[in-house]
Amino acid sequence: MTNTTPRLTVTNLSTSFPTEDGLIRSVADVSFAIQPGKTTALVGESGSGKSVTSLTLMRLLPKTANAQVSGSASFVTREGKTL
Ligand SMILES: Nc1ncnc2c1ncn2[C@@H]1O[C@H](COP(=O)(O)OP(=O)(O)O)[C@@H](O)[C@H]1O
Ligand SMILES: [Mg+2]
Repeated sequence: MTNTTPRLTVTNLSTSFPTEDGLIRSVADVSFAIQPGKTTALVGESGSGKSVTSLTLMRLLPKTANAQVSGSASFVTREGKTL
């Protein structure tokens, strides 16, 4: 039987950056799930927040950006361990 537990579940993810011009809300309340064995594409126009979404999830945003992050994400390993 096919495993239908999502590998990655992202719920209400938001990432904002404080700037001289105020708070820039780069990712606004994004939710999605990635199924095991499937390829998932994040599609959108330039500047719509694809890179910031990915960098937030991988915890690779530069510390100097002082990003404000909210929401949750859970990742299930191949062995079935939830991180
Ligand atoms: N460190 C940052 N400080 C302020 N704004 C940022 C920062 N990083 C990204 N942004 C802004 O967040 C928005 C989304 O950027 P990005 O995720 O790179 O878009 P995409 O990858 O979809 O082209 C853009 O308006 C970008 O200028
Ligand atoms: Mg990008």
